[in-house]
Amino acid sequence: MSLPDLTIRPRRLRGSANIRRMVSETQLSVADLIYPLFVDEAITEAIEVSSMPGVFRIPLSDVAAQVNAVEALGIPGVILFGIPTEKDAIGSSGWDDNGIVQQAIRAAKAASPDMCVIADTCFCEYTDHGHCGVLHGEEVDNDATLLNLQKEALSYARAGVDIVAPSGMMDGMIAAIRSSLDEAGFTQLPIMSYAVKYASGYFGPFRDAADSTPSFGDRASYQMDPANRREALKEAELDVQEGADMLMVKPALAYMDIIREVKDATDVPMAVYNVSGEYAMVKAAAANGWIDEKRVVMETMLGFKRAGADLILTYHAMDVARWLEADAHHG
Ligand code: PBG
Ligand code: ZN
Repeated sequence: MSLPDLTIRPRRLRGSANIRRMVSETQLSVADLIYPLFVDEAITEAIEVSSMPGVFRIPLSDVAAQVNAVEALGIPGVILFGIPTEKDAIGSSGWDDNGIVQQAIRAAKAASPDMCVIADTCFCEYTDHGHCGVLHGEEVDNDATLLNLQKEALSYARAGVDIVAPSGMMDGMIAAIRSSLDEAGFTQLPIMSYAVKYASGYFGPFRDAADSTPSFGDRASYQMDPANRREALKEAELDVQEGADMLMVKPALAYMDIIREVKDATDVPMAVYNVSGEYAMVKAAAANGWIDEKRVVMETMLGFKRAGADLILTYHAMDVARWLEADAHHG
């Protein structure tokens, strides 16, 4: 048996920690992270979400302290989800200038003027049926919902939000929001579009956290079919044409191919949402001692970056920030 030609040996560049650092192709930074916050109008003390250990619904009075803690770790942004006391058929508390998210935006900006405060812009937390818009029979009425999205985005803008992030997968939602923001003078307010959002089983724990499970049916008539790849490119391109400043792919782990393809096909910053079910799986396995949580989470974050993500929305953000900091000091 003859030896293969070993002139080229990739292992030469793996021989020491420093040479591995020198040839590392992908970097994860604390500046890539966005931390989700659930603000519940009905509570006065934080409540842990049972399916998401370490994640809490917090009262309005805790928003300032939470935002300060996020800021102290160097994380540049938070995304707010509100759980209102009043829900109705159209989700009107979503555009109440004194609604829970509007109050949380003001509290967050007062606590930390520099924090980039993003507001998820949808209706599933505000409607009594849990769907992402106005119903017509059992269907979500796209165009009627657009009018309400305009009101909601404007109300968040007036409260001082830094980015609006429409997540309802309505056709034309970016153009509708952009035009109403511009008309009201908010020409500099960016839109991060949940452009490619799949009808996913991985959202289960979030719906416990945000109290937004649909009371009938599912979201398959507005969120995407997990089987579809070309449709993701179509959604992304439409949103860029309509004026989206950033795009998001969601969920993340089962859609790494989509992250890469959307990244390559567009020229705006790309966010990925490492969703509640992905978090829950890691926490459950770690709690059982089946995986090394830090190692698995950091590997996952790097995977998102390698796939093309510029920004990562993740419930692990505060842990990741601490681990990055510790590793920077101790190699
Ligand atoms: C609202 C919204 C959802 C998530 C973010 N925004 C839930 C859904 O569409 O059902 C999911 C986030 C997560 O699972 O962590 N439309
Ligand atoms: Zn929704």
